[in-house]
Amino acid sequence: MNHDELRHKKILLIISGGIAAYKSLELIRLLKKNGAIINTVLTKGGAQFVTALSISSLSGNKTYADLWDLTDESEMGHIRLSRDHDLIVIAPASADLMAKMAHGLANDLASTLLLASDTKLLICPAMNPMMWQNQATQENVKTLIDRGFHFCGPSSGEMACGEKGLGRMSEPENILNAITTFFTPKERPLHGKKALVTSGPTLEAIDPVRYISNHSSGKQGHAIACALRDAGADVTLVTGPTKLPSPKDIRTIPINAAQEMHDIVHDNLPSDIAVCAAAVADWRVSTIADSKMKKQDGEDHLVLKLVKNPDILKSIGTLPNNKRPKLVVGFAAETDDLINNAQKKLNKKGCDMIVANHVNPSDPVFGKDTNQATLLSKNNDPETWSLQSKDDIAKKLVSKIINSMTA
Ligand code: PMT
Repeated sequence: MNHDELRHKKILLIISGGIAAYKSLELIRLLKKNGAIINTVLTKGGAQFVTALSISSLSGNKTYADLWDLTDESEMGHIRLSRDHDLIVIAPASADLMAKMAHGLANDLASTLLLASDTKLLICPAMNPMMWQNQATQENVKTLIDRGFHFCGPSSGEMACGEKGLGRMSEPENILNAITTFFTPKERPLHGKKALVTSGPTLEAIDPVRYISNHSSGKQGHAIACALRDAGADVTLVTGPTKLPSPKDIRTIPINAAQEMHDIVHDNLPSDIAVCAAAVADWRVSTIADSKMKKQDGEDHLVLKLVKNPDILKSIGTLPNNKRPKLVVGFAAETDDLINNAQKKLNKKGCDMIVANHVNPSDPVFGKDTNQATLLSKNNDPETWSLQSKDDIAKKLVSKIINSMTA
């Protein structure tokens, strides 16, 4: 999972008493690595398990411990500590600290700043399983949940005391993921998903100066890559030669021939989404001449022997489920019998969806800024999209992808 959202986010970590406090050191390291700014509060109980020195060495900031420390109060103050952060995380959260929160007690720095805070809060409990199950703790937990506070864990397993059950603090990686979701904008529904898009034409060399290709400009494929990125996906774009600039924040891999595109695609195949919008040449010359082919006097014809290129889309769509991306989307460019031919391609190539473009021989979609398409899918009726910009077609397709990935 990508944690870019944490860059420059101010997080206050409260470490209360429990053997799990040692895991908080790893949490600080992970938060720092992902660019967060961390301040820490160590309760008296927490200080029995980890030291302020080790915490500050990792966080790079002072560790606050005493409500009555004059220097701390003049520098930061408990009210500022409680308000000056984007998120407060309590890890580990002891039964005692949760009880104080539930009942509004404020007799040390942690409980006082929590009572004075209106900042979002994530609680990561850690305690003996019997303490967790105790009716008093469960009622406190319910009170805190009802007040809108979020919990991560506890998880189940063997405890340091030798007992087994629910009470272990969540692993630092899981807490990191829970923290990241606080900063993941809801309008980025594909956050955490990986996508690959093919775009543009392929270029099949005949000799060092000549090639076979087509008129694809890459406009449609690039627009889809951008729409997936804007929806939060981590996108790789594998593109044949185009005049378009590499889109921002998209890993772009340029290729020439279909075989090259095939190999790069399989080396970078994501587990989530593959969209094949490239106009891949079905054929290539069987042997590329090493030097420029010369015209021979008296010859009016040249016969080129062509061999079939791999079908990249089919090679992805028909992979076994454990290797295949969850969603495979193809395109079909047809001059005749659009829907029937596209439907056949949908089935034959193992796609979940296919975008059928009608290629009008006198006014082809290749290279233009607009497209008119019909979306065919395995599970829904065909949907026809009127003539509109390739950007809008891309957004429409991505909204279908989002529906299908989050269904
Ligand atoms: O690039 P633009 O100028 O914006 O134009 C966009 C477009 C018309 C090229 C695009 O919208 C489009 O339709 N792309 C697919 C064109 C095509 O090659 O269609 P096809 O019907 O021949 O192929 C069907 C599908 O199989 C496509 O997803 C294609 O990427 C894939 N394919 C085809 C042959 C092959 N050897 N390998 C493949 O993966």
